[in-house]
Amino acid sequence: MNDSANLKAPALLNAIRADLAATTFTMSSDDLTGSLLRTLAASKPRGSLLELGTGAGVSTAWLLDGMDAESRLITVENDRQVHAIAKRHLGSDPRVTFVLGDGESFIERHGQERFELIFADTWPGKFYLVDPVLGMLSWGGLYIVDDLVPVDNWPQEHANQVVQLVNYLENRSDLRITKLTWSTGLLVATKVRP
Ligand SMILES: C[S@@+](CC[C@H](N)C(=O)[O-])C[C@H]1O[C@@H](n2cnc3c(N)ncnc32)[C@H](O)[C@@H]1O
Repeated sequence: MNDSANLKAPALLNAIRADLAATTFTMSSDDLTGSLLRTLAASKPRGSLLELGTGAGVSTAWLLDGMDAESRLITVENDRQVHAIAKRHLGSDPRVTFVLGDGESFIERHGQERFELIFADTWPGKFYLVDPVLGMLSWGGLYIVDDLVPVDNWPQEHANQVVQLVNYLENRSDLRITKLTWSTGLLVATKVRP
């Protein structure tokens, strides 16, 4: 099996990447992570999905490609430039709401809402405010984080943050987790009733 073959990436990615080429932004998810996100999004028909860290919309495009017509996605980004790229290419899709603002204040304001899938791809919800974000996950809901396999240019402090995050998630009694040393390193957790 070749895990990179026949990915059938969303066609919109080419246009997003063309816009990204004129920027210095390099933090978009890769195609393997995108394809996993699409598969997991497809497992939540009529789902409410949340993405923290839209970037330029690469992972957003994959999530939308997996969602059915009744599913809804809220995606939050604090960088106006990349948010604008995402919105330009994906903003006509009625299933997605783009929020330009700080993920931390979004979590504080929306803590009572419930989501069936949360892709936590930025600091709030991944390296802090993890507990409130997991509180926003439905029973049976999926919490997904990536970029967990160390790369050479990580500062030691960041490596420590990743270790702490994984330890924290491993030790919660209400999560069933799988760690994948694949793509950039992912952890997928399902929330169960304690
Ligand atoms: C890893 S990138 C997201 C990539 C995107 N999910 C993708 O795969 O294409 C993280 C994003 O979080 C944004 N960000 C950083 N701090 C943030 C915050 N406090 N609130 C919202 N977004 C934030 C950054 O501007 C960046 O676009």
